[in-house]
Amino acid sequence: MRCALLLLTVRMSISRMSATGAARPIVVVGSINADIYLEVPRVPAVGETLIATADPRIFPGGKGANQAAAAARLTGRCQMVGQVGGSDAYGEQMLERARACGVDTSLVARHPTASTGQAYIVLQADGDNSIIVVGGANQLWPEDEPLGAGTREAIACASCLLLQREIPERVNIAAATLARASGVPVVLDVGGEDSAVSKELLALCTSVSPNETELARMTGLPTDDDARVLAAARALLAGGMISEVVVKLGARGCMRVGADGREPLWQAAFPVAQVVDTTGAGDCFTAAFAVACAEGRDVGASLRFATAAASLAVQTRGAMTSMPAREMVERLMAGTAA
Ligand SMILES: Nc1ncnc2c1ncn2[C@@H]1O[C@H](COP(=O)(O)OP(=O)(O)O)[C@@H](O)[C@H]1O
Ligand SMILES: *[C@@H]1O[C@H](CO)[C@@H](O)[C@H](O)[C@H]1NC(C)=O
Repeated sequence: MRCALLLLTVRMSISRMSATGAARPIVVVGSINADIYLEVPRVPAVGETLIATADPRIFPGGKGANQAAAAARLTGRCQMVGQVGGSDAYGEQMLERARACGVDTSLVARHPTASTGQAYIVLQADGDNSIIVVGGANQLWPEDEPLGAGTREAIACASCLLLQREIPERVNIAAATLARASGVPVVLDVGGEDSAVSKELLALCTSVSPNETELARMTGLPTDDDARVLAAARALLAGGMISEVVVKLGARGCMRVGADGREPLWQAAFPVAQVVDTTGAGDCFTAAFAVACAEGRDVGASLRFATAAASLAVQTRGAMTSMPAREMVERLMAGTAA
């Protein structure tokens, strides 16, 4: 297989690897959205017409694209697998933004008829917001074999497969099955869809990462303090399907428990002078965690790396635009940040 050849080349070039780590790319299979912000005085009543108070602002988004951007900023390369619409302008615009972060978008398909995924974020004057999502191409993967030959090869050769839940579960399962068959670790961010994660998918994951809300939803248990978070995470492990749970705890950092019998590990968030925008912080965290694991860092170091990266992401506006570069994370971890 070409992958074996590639691996050989990778091994031979390891001595030439820079500090930016893994030579094999992380592969992200997931969603690509245009996030469209509409400013209105309030939500219109039935039959009412309202005038927006500003032009729409359009940003690249989708948890898949956000996480690919984060992984690319941290490693210099990341392959994105996804689908955009072939007949609207959003697809190309969003991919261009991902490429500007270093994402390889050559495996992103253009759907012949569907539109690019869109999220309309309706910002109301009182600070509340409502969101309408158009799944579009993110939801319309080929029926029988959702992943093309190029994608299958990329997954088999990846340093890590990173998944979220904004594409059909069967696509995630197909990707994770391929990864596991090739010994590639699978990290699942459970964000993006409220329905239960299938046991089939959970059993294929090396690492499952919910935030507190998602952990509560997955277990039906409260997660409002550290002891309860630990109990809920242990309940998730007790199902016997998952090998590792990494819980994102917002300003409190994160927590990890594993089926490996190690003591639970807690990592405090890095102190942040001013939280500007937490959009994409969870995506940054999970991507950075996957990067650290792919580079062979131990669990504690991986949690620290992910937490440092996410603490940088909350200090900049936007999602994709807030993903930190490797040097910033290293500097923060070394305690030499400006
Ligand atoms: N106020 C904060 N200060 C520092 N780090 C933060 C802050 N809020 C979030 N983070 C970091 O971002 C990660 C993800 O945030 P969280 O809110 O838990 O996820 P999500 O975006 O999924 O809701 C956290 O685990 C933490 O490392
Ligand atoms: C956790 O993720 C969910 C979506 O899956 C989101 O609605 C919620 O705001 C997040 N919770 C926190 C505490 O950030």
